[in-house]
Amino acid sequence: MIKQAKFLISNTDYKKCPSPDKPEFAFIGRSNVGKSSLINMLSNQKNLAKTSGTPGKTQLINHFIIDNNWYLVDLPGYGFAKVSKVLKAEWDKMIREYLTQRDNLEAVFILIDSRLDPQKIDLEFTYWCAERGIPFALVFTKADKQSVTKTKANVDKFLGEMKTLYGDLPDHFVTSAETGIGKEDLIAYIEENVAEFYQK
Ligand code: GTP
Ligand code: MG
Repeated sequence: MIKQAKFLISNTDYKKCPSPDKPEFAFIGRSNVGKSSLINMLSNQKNLAKTSGTPGKTQLINHFIIDNNWYLVDLPGYGFAKVSKVLKAEWDKMIREYLTQRDNLEAVFILIDSRLDPQKIDLEFTYWCAERGIPFALVFTKADKQSVTKTKANVDKFLGEMKTLYGDLPDHFVTSAETGIGKEDLIAYIEENVAEFYQK
């Protein structure tokens, strides 16, 4: 359970991010997948991360400090079509540098829309992380939007694709920012990793 969550700072450059002395967990995924909503759900605050029906709302590396113990990071979504090529290249560089250079990054949560069949862009991003040894887990979002059966079918399809192409299965969670499904499991996973960070 998160008791206190505070916004710290927004950056375009990982080098300017807060001192890497606490474990860090970043949330990424396609634009509009529900990253900011999930962060608000986890932290029990309605408006901690800005949400919007319009894709592309989050454009910076946003740091939040949780219980004075770990950092939570809201990252801009990938795959947002309505931005210029130059802007897209800048976002890519910012995110890729952050993910590969940030020393205290314990896990990246890759958010996947549970309503959809496996999307190429999500699979590609997942492999990109796997190839570089960036620790990640999958978080399927918006599970309230369809039946449990349909969600499970889509999750299984995505994991099936991963197994075929990558051979290994990452940890995964099914969530809803609307109903709070998955919250306890995700927090427990983070807390385990926080404890490991401080034991190093
Ligand atoms: P960007 O910052 O633009 O990349 O988007 P984001 O991934 O942060 O998505 P955001 O949290 O802003 O949510 C996008 C839309 O999906 C909003 O209209 C949310 O209300 C809606 N939404 C997000 N999560 C859920 C969920 O679990 N269930 C339902 N029903 N709607 C959700
Ligand atoms: Mg957002």
